[in-house]
Amino acid sequence: MNDYNFDNIIDRKGTGCKKWDMISKDYGDDVIPLWIADMDFEIPYEISESIKKRADHPILGYTMAPDTYYEAVIDWFKKIHNWVIEKEYIQFTPGVVPGINAIISTFTKPGDDVIIQTPVYHPFARLIKNNGCNVVENPLKLEDGYYSMDFDNLEEVITKRTRLLILCSPHNPIGRVWKREELEKLGEICVENEILVVSDEIHADIVYPPNEHIVFSNINQRLANNSIICTAPNKTFNIAGLQTANIVIQNEKLRNEFEIQLEKLCIPGGTIFGIIAQETAYRNGESWYKELIKYLNENVDYVVKFFETRIPKIKVKKPEGTYLLWLDCSALNMNEEELVDFFIKDCKVLLNEGSIFGKGYELFQRMNVATSRKVLQEALERIETEVNKL
Ligand SMILES: Cc1ncc(COP(=O)(O)O)c(C=O)c1O
Repeated sequence: MNDYNFDNIIDRKGTGCKKWDMISKDYGDDVIPLWIADMDFEIPYEISESIKKRADHPILGYTMAPDTYYEAVIDWFKKIHNWVIEKEYIQFTPGVVPGINAIISTFTKPGDDVIIQTPVYHPFARLIKNNGCNVVENPLKLEDGYYSMDFDNLEEVITKRTRLLILCSPHNPIGRVWKREELEKLGEICVENEILVVSDEIHADIVYPPNEHIVFSNINQRLANNSIICTAPNKTFNIAGLQTANIVIQNEKLRNEFEIQLEKLCIPGGTIFGIIAQETAYRNGESWYKELIKYLNENVDYVVKFFETRIPKIKVKKPEGTYLLWLDCSALNMNEEELVDFFIKDCKVLLNEGSIFGKGYELFQRMNVATSRKVLQEALERIETEVNKL
């Protein structure tokens, strides 16, 4: 039993919750949703209280982030990631995805190339295409179930039109926490080729020991000058519905260009509840967060062991970070359509299809383990029963 009860099963149905309500509508009430990267845990009590307290005030007019908000963000990064930033580096956007969209629109022209390293969080490709740019894939290398960056191929795919590389760090869906040497090498190639690195670090806080997240711009000044770090409390504290993110740009020239673009796009500077929740999370959420990591680590171990011992046909490696597991289902001998049907219709468990993360991953599925252990147990037993029938 934890100080915080992550075992508690909370009924989220009927709250407009995408994870549960969207699937009840599409697949029926008895499907267990382990798809979208959203957790089923209660948020820290302090966050709920701060929102309620503000809601008691009868006026909800235009809002701005106070200095205390910036102090809370700065203190969190210093304490958790040993990363020292200043208030003026931080730009607010209503989520990391809108932030990356604004970054692409600021620093590219239609027809430019933007590199992503597949399999990777699927909206990256959509944002690149929406801005009229070309998606250039530098697929990760897979050796013995372990993914790494392919630097030789990276140098091959770079052209004169390459403007940006979107890094996912830690990497969704394969759960790598990139090592300093890997980030440094990637960063140097990008500096040499004048490619700006957009580092999406939304999963930065969710890392399992002994792995350690290294903020890309914390490696050296050259890389800090040539990067934009996208951060948010949305994954860590499960407050994605409040739509907040902090885009951190140390290079003053880049920062000014981005600020002008945010103005042009009329990107708002935050909502009353998003700002309050985020300040409270970063200021008072650390003890909850530490318990969360312990619980998630145990969940990950539990699920990996379950697959290894009871469903060995589905191969999975423990992720170094994120609460997402990348399941290799190729030994089930199904095609993509059969595999998707198998999980939804037979097992009644909804996962994310591998194909959305990149070409060649049709026989993979992504599983979100940020739910109570009982729910995971039920989902795994369903999968085991159906695999045994094959
Ligand atoms: C790598 C990555 N970036 C961004 C997001 C979404 O960010 P936001 O909700 O802040 O737009 C997710 C959500 O799963 C993600 O995994």
